[in-house]
Amino acid sequence: MPAAQNFDVIILGAGAAGLMCAIEAGKRGRRVALLDHAERTGKKILISGGGRCNFTNIHVRPENFLSENPHFARSALSRFTPDDIIALVEKHHIRYHEKTLGQLFCDRSAHDIVTMLERECAEAQVRIILNCRILSVRNDARFTIETSQGTFHSASLVVATGGLSIPKMGATGFGYAVAEQFDLRIVPCRPGLVPLVLNPADQARWCDLTGLSVEAVASAGAGKHRASFREKMLITHRGLSGPAMLQISSFWHPGKPLSIDLAPGSTVTAPLLEHNARRDPNAALQALRAIFPARLAERWLDLNHPANWTNTSLSTMEQQLHDWQITPAGTEGYAKAEVTIGGIDTNELDAKTMQSRKVPGLFFIGEVVDVTGWLGGYNFQWAWASAFSAGQAV
Ligand code: FDA
Repeated sequence: MPAAQNFDVIILGAGAAGLMCAIEAGKRGRRVALLDHAERTGKKILISGGGRCNFTNIHVRPENFLSENPHFARSALSRFTPDDIIALVEKHHIRYHEKTLGQLFCDRSAHDIVTMLERECAEAQVRIILNCRILSVRNDARFTIETSQGTFHSASLVVATGGLSIPKMGATGFGYAVAEQFDLRIVPCRPGLVPLVLNPADQARWCDLTGLSVEAVASAGAGKHRASFREKMLITHRGLSGPAMLQISSFWHPGKPLSIDLAPGSTVTAPLLEHNARRDPNAALQALRAIFPARLAERWLDLNHPANWTNTSLSTMEQQLHDWQITPAGTEGYAKAEVTIGGIDTNELDAKTMQSRKVPGLFFIGEVVDVTGWLGGYNFQWAWASAFSAGQAV
């Protein structure tokens, strides 16, 4: 039986948050062990952003995050900003570009980000232990972690095991189980940034057009809870996806309709309303083709044919184009979700350090916490920022 190993800090989960926290704690001279059950570090980073890792968003604001307590993220986000991660990326000579809406991607590959984090860990003398199954966590005078690779002791324990999305990549509910073990409240979880599935009747209407996309504004909710995103919407073989739908999926609640503006900023019927203009299916099709791919224009007209060609029916058609009401049957679930909404209740944590208020020495960072970003680099920024805050305190 090998002797137990002692560290100042043990971090569970070598993803974005765990790696960053290990670096910061190691730089402060703390003896850090980073444990993960996977065979390598940063597996989700590698598949992120289509393999190019959208590692931050230069427009990040606390308003870009969902949480039961929308103010919680403010402190961490102000301590470690997009400029800080950009400085690290530049220090490692990683080339990057802004794709759209402030989203920064690697020019080459997400591997560059993982290599950067691994090099920083090596410099900060972090012990990385992979293929390590965590068997139990105890807290007496210190933390004791029993694993498939022996027993570890530490004064601080950081849980950075992420959310439930993409179980195939090694996601588990481990972090929530640790929280429950220590009696911490968990905000119920659901998949976020996830493709939406239509009911069978709507699938029959639309889903043979899989692969077609349009610029749209997708909206959900009402009053101050209303959210809207203007981006591409994509028809899939089971429903709707693309950035606009992924964004709105985080705000959608089962049974509720979404409103989709399929022609933002345009008056599609304007050419038909002109003096002496032709008003017939061909003219309508031509007008629709200005904004839709041809097959979608035809389908829309088949399904929403104006009863006659009066001003009133054209105005109804215009209104339907700007407020297409559709109620998804559900989502594609954690198998396809980019993130998990919900998680460790932020009221349980100190906003400056991510430390549990009930259990001194126990920290939660990254996606396992009830802070979820929009699509576009916000989730990595939260991972870096929450990890940095904990890294200064462990
Ligand atoms: P993360 O999931 O990265 O890491 C958790 C670690 O814990 C993993 O290494 C896992 O193996 C380990 N672990 C889990 N359970 C364990 C257990 N029981 N025992 C031991 N170890 C365990 N965000 C963004 O900002 N820009 C982007 O481009 C993308 N793109 C993207 C694409 C896809 C396909 C997905 C699924 C997600 C994204 N995201 C994203 C979201 C982003 O990947 C996510 O928010 C962060 O990886 C969260 O970082 P964490 O470190 O908290 O968890």
